[in-house]
Amino acid sequence: MNNLTVTTSSASYPVVVQAGALASLPAHLDALGLRGVLWLICDGAVEARYAVPLAAHLRAAGSTVHTYRVPPGDASKNPAQLGELHTWMIAGGIERRDAVLALGGGVVGDLAGFAAATILRGVAVVQMPTTLLSMVDAAVGGKTGINHPLGKNLIGAFHQPRLVLADTDTLASLPPRALREGWAEVIKHGVIRDAGLFGELEQLAEARGWSESAPGGLWDPADAALTTVLSDLIRRAVAVKVAVVSIDEFERGERITLNYGHTVGHAVEQLSRYGLLHGEAVAVGMHAEARIAQHMGICDGDLVGRQAALLHAYGLEITLPAYDVDAILALAMRDKKVQAKKIRWVLPTSVGAVQVRDDVPEELLRRVLQA
Ligand SMILES: NC(=O)c1ccc[n+]([C@@H]2O[C@H](COP(=O)([O-])OP(=O)(O)OC[C@H]3O[C@@H](n4cnc5c(N)ncnc54)[C@H](O)[C@@H]3O)[C@@H](O)[C@H]2O)c1
Repeated sequence: MNNLTVTTSSASYPVVVQAGALASLPAHLDALGLRGVLWLICDGAVEARYAVPLAAHLRAAGSTVHTYRVPPGDASKNPAQLGELHTWMIAGGIERRDAVLALGGGVVGDLAGFAAATILRGVAVVQMPTTLLSMVDAAVGGKTGINHPLGKNLIGAFHQPRLVLADTDTLASLPPRALREGWAEVIKHGVIRDAGLFGELEQLAEARGWSESAPGGLWDPADAALTTVLSDLIRRAVAVKVAVVSIDEFERGERITLNYGHTVGHAVEQLSRYGLLHGEAVAVGMHAEARIAQHMGICDGDLVGRQAALLHAYGLEITLPAYDVDAILALAMRDKKVQAKKIRWVLPTSVGAVQVRDDVPEELLRRVLQA
């Protein structure tokens, strides 16, 4: 139903976003010709709830399934953990026709994806994201990898999945804060490329009167109508990522637009020593960067206000913590978007459209970040 498709020069694959989608995995694997042994990788947060029943479902459909659980958290994206996964698969007799199944948030997706990219010079991987953040971002687009002591995500490979299966029912067990941070990326996708999505998010916030109650628990499994609406919104946000990576598989152009809010956001995330979650930092970054755009004269105050109201409505803070502006700028200069010592800012021009600018005066930045 309403499936999306990523199409790049190296691959084409379906992206399914639907309540109950995990039940359809055996049929999808069959349709893709993935009939080898399945190497299911998950973390402790999803094992009992989703991995165990999924493995039983696959076995009932005739598959051989091996399961590996990694500890939850970003620290699992390390070379030793990767090595253990390799050993597990090699010792278990993995063959080229087998497939890795990544079930979990972005940590499991990145780690299992990189294990799949590197074992036997690459086996198939299916991404099954279980956090809102990984549904709308990490699981789609083929970026896989682990961290290095000198920085996050520095070791990795592009390895496109054969299928992305996002079961929105799994969001019911996500802690409210993790759900909230995911909404930041959903809203970001509206701002950069889909004014209709932005408008629908506004309408829903208004209809549900969420703004005062900071809707951490806005996923109510008992409310079928609401979960259907939310699933549709998530699918629409995923469609933005699908469109962008289909244009720019290897991050040479269009993909930079996905980094809206991330230049200030990454700096704030680091200055908070990761006390702020990624999506929370992105929300702060989006507000700061929209204000930069406003001061540059490329968007109006209406956009800044609507975006701020929407972020608030989905429970996100937008106030920049009182960090030293020099520290923010120093970290922004280390951003991956810096080219020829200039920061390339992704700035909104209107809801649904952005511009990349490398001519933001430092004095303007200081003024906005200090205010
Ligand atoms: N590859 C990419 O393009 C890309 C893009 C963005 C982020 N990332 C990476 O993604 C990672 C962040 O992803 P994340 O936010 O999903 O973090 P995560 O994988 O750490 O998940 C967040 C927490 O939620 C738990 N969890 C996951 N699903 C759950 C569920 N359904 N119910 C209950 N608990 C659940 C996890 O165990 C974890 O504790 C980072 O490592 C980041 O670098 C990658």
